[in-house]
Amino acid sequence: MPLVTSKEMFEKAYKGGYAVGAFNVNNMEIVQGITEACQEEKAPVILQVSKGARAYANHTYLVKLVEAAVIECPDIPVVLHLDHGPDFETCKACIDGGFTSVMIDGSSHSFEDNIALTKKVVEYAHDHGVVVEGELGTLAGIEDEVSHAVGSYTRPEEVEEFVSKTGVDSLAIAIGTSHGAYKFKPEQCTRNEKGILVPPPLRFDILEEVSKRLPGFPIVLHGSSSVPQEYVKMVNEFGGKMPDAVGVPEDQLRQAAKLAVCKINIDSDLRLAMTGTIRKFFTEHPEKFDPREYLKPARANIKELVRHKLVDVLGCAGKA
Ligand code: G3H
Ligand code: 13P
Ligand code: ZN
Repeated sequence: MPLVTSKEMFEKAYKGGYAVGAFNVNNMEIVQGITEACQEEKAPVILQVSKGARAYANHTYLVKLVEAAVIECPDIPVVLHLDHGPDFETCKACIDGGFTSVMIDGSSHSFEDNIALTKKVVEYAHDHGVVVEGELGTLAGIEDEVSHAVGSYTRPEEVEEFVSKTGVDSLAIAIGTSHGAYKFKPEQCTRNEKGILVPPPLRFDILEEVSKRLPGFPIVLHGSSSVPQEYVKMVNEFGGKMPDAVGVPEDQLRQAAKLAVCKINIDSDLRLAMTGTIRKFFTEHPEKFDPREYLKPARANIKELVRHKLVDVLGCAGKA
């Protein structure tokens, strides 16, 4: 089937009490690892491309890689989404250039300016059959350029006005997740019996209040990597240095997926799987230099990690 928008996907996810995985793509191996898992598990999927991904891999290459995945995975619906669109021009370029969904991230602007910018993107997108994700509230985080040093939770009392004035199709909210592999400072966490950091729980009270005010409306969670400790360990064992990397516990994401959250963004976990696998490969095979040899196990581990997310965390396996 051709690329689709997320409209029907979200309707089914909301009613079915699961979430669709939105995974960031930057190269062929990542696209393949994600979509092979989704095809085998019969799961709908959102492939998302950030400003950084477009700068790294080039818009056309990424669109063509995703189109190739659509051909290779004929049984599942695939959305091509712009992640954290920074301005109207970038959103327009993606709408004109084959994307079926865009995010306009106006969360760093004032409430009024966020509304005005988001509305402008929505008008253009809807005229072209493309759906739009907006954002209210900011995510704490220290890793990438879309993050903010200090996050602020979404204010539920603002969501109805934002959605009705902008016409957005889905809304990203801030309930305590953040981008990257260091989501929480050690001092914000407790340690379990194995010495692993346990972060503070997500603000389910905010999610519930938002969904009461927007019944049936799809909510998005960014910054939802769980930072699997098996891969943190692998990175550290094979020459890396990622002390105290910690993510969002998977059981909390599963819980959110049963509520109004219809899209869960995961990027850092795939990066960790790829990096850990490649580090291990080079330590064990210092004589090798063929990229196919180290990218192959990296792709395979991305695939298995995505399969785990679909089946055990998002609940979207078998929902294509
Ligand atoms: O939320 C951001 C995504 O993880 C994309 O990150 O800007 O490094 O491509 P990036
Ligand atoms: P993570 O860094 O937790 O994977 O979040 C990804 C994300 O929100 C992409 O928009
Ligand atoms: Zn994000």
